[in-house]
Amino acid sequence: MTEVLTDKRWYKACRMEDVPAGGGVAIKYGAEQIAIFHFDRKGEWYATQNQCPHKLQMILSRGMLGDHDGEPKVACPFHKQTFSLKTGESFSGDCDNIKTYPVKTGEGYVFVDVSALV
Ligand code: FES
Repeated sequence: MTEVLTDKRWYKACRMEDVPAGGGVAIKYGAEQIAIFHFDRKGEWYATQNQCPHKLQMILSRGMLGDHDGEPKVACPFHKQTFSLKTGESFSGDCDNIKTYPVKTGEGYVFVDVSALV
C-alpha cells in the first residue's frame, strides 16, 4: 500500500473501525465536511459532501443507507430526501445533487480523493 501513503491526492480521512457498519461519519478537510459511509451489506465505501442541499444541514453522515433500483443511496434523516452514493444524483426531484468523492481503504484506514477540493 505504498501508493496510498505517498499519493497526496488521497487524504487519510479516518480509521475503518471508526465508521459504523451500515452508517457513516463526518470528517473535515479544510472548510469542507465530508461524509464517509460503509455500505457493509455490499462491502462498499462511499464519500459525499456532508451538507444536505435541502435545508443546508450538515447531516448526511447520519443518514439511512438503502437501495434505489440497485443504486446505493443515502436518505437524509431530516426530511428523507435521497441521493445516489455513486453519482450524488438527487432521487427526490426537488433537490440539488450532492458532490461525491472517490474513496478507498487500506492499512485499516479510509482514504478520500480530495483532488477536486485543492
Ligand atoms: S435537510 Fe435533508 S432532507 Fe431536509
